[in-house]
Amino acid sequence: MPDRSATAIACANIAFIKYWGNRDARLRLPSNGSISMNLGGLFTRTRVTWAELRVTSNESQEQDSLVINNKPITGAGLSRVSTFLDEVRRMAGIKSRAEVVSENNFPSSAGIASSASAFAALALAASAAAGLELSQAELSRLARRGSGSACRSIPGGFVEWQAGTGDADSYAVSIAPPEHWPLADCVAVVSHAHKATGSTEGHALAATSPLQAARVADAPRRLDLCRRAILSRDFEAFAGIAELDSNLMHTVMMTSNPPLFYWQPATLTIMQAVREWRASGLPVCYTIDAGPNVHVITEAAEAERVAALLANMPGVQKVLAAQVGGAGAVQFLPSTKRVTVQACHPEGAFCATEGSQGQSEEILRRWKNTSGSE
Ligand code: DP6
Repeated sequence: MPDRSATAIACANIAFIKYWGNRDARLRLPSNGSISMNLGGLFTRTRVTWAELRVTSNESQEQDSLVINNKPITGAGLSRVSTFLDEVRRMAGIKSRAEVVSENNFPSSAGIASSASAFAALALAASAAAGLELSQAELSRLARRGSGSACRSIPGGFVEWQAGTGDADSYAVSIAPPEHWPLADCVAVVSHAHKATGSTEGHALAATSPLQAARVADAPRRLDLCRRAILSRDFEAFAGIAELDSNLMHTVMMTSNPPLFYWQPATLTIMQAVREWRASGLPVCYTIDAGPNVHVITEAAEAERVAALLANMPGVQKVLAAQVGGAGAVQFLPSTKRVTVQACHPEGAFCATEGSQGQSEEILRRWKNTSGSE
């Protein structure tokens, strides 16, 4: 096979009903379904070139190459990508080595998991470059093998990953397009530190918590409530179920063996402030992944105000905001034919810089005056 390349782009996503725990870790079949929204403007762009040189058995990991944000990656990072590429090689019936060059347009320290956008973009680029023509469901299944949450970055807008009964029906589908409900995610970054326990390791510990079984058993009810709240654009209902689900996942994390404590004092301070802001009429709620940073979800029209409020909270180093993003997409196909496909909305993200502390009350007061709420 001559060298063949393809480039693809996929957004990060934030889950409202969380994926935590696998019933099959190798296939990444989750213990429960999950619901997320894509983060427009926060994306990974990946180019995969299948070289003519063939890999000899068991040497693929030495022969594939991986560069992320201009840095060559070896060791465990390359090994995880090579294992994923082995699946693409198997599907395409090829033995070529791959060169993977990938870039995230968001800072790795921003508290946004890059594995979702990374493996979604890799699934799109690697399969297109290998000449595979996969459906969206097949692409989502493939991305899932690299990182569970990546399967949700393949379809656009608001997305549900069905737990499924096995590999064939465990994939994500769009439940509403980005324009259905203009929400925004304002990420309050309270720490740039790399997390001590990564998600993959955390999933493996989930079942050691006596609370995980109850969390999983109740998941269909939460999925139903969250799906309905999104479809009917009911922010109050949405806020209640998203916060409950995040609290449940963190309760499982804190009661695992060993326990995982991802929060910092500033995390809890922001959670409490968000609840107070909502009680005073601002449409806001929080959700937190496997780290201390707080994702504050609001209506897009309020995003700048919420970002400014957060920037003035103690301990907040930076706020990054994104609107609802589109589907992952291949940008350049092997034949050098350029395809214009709707991808993420690059204009959907903006940054709010730090402000002086103590201004939050003043911003909230001004908002109440202009919106007429008490
Ligand atoms: C807390 O998808 O990052 O963000 O499959 O091991 O790559 P791997 O895990 P990953 O787990 C995401 C966990 C979460 C919740 C979520 O996004 O649903």
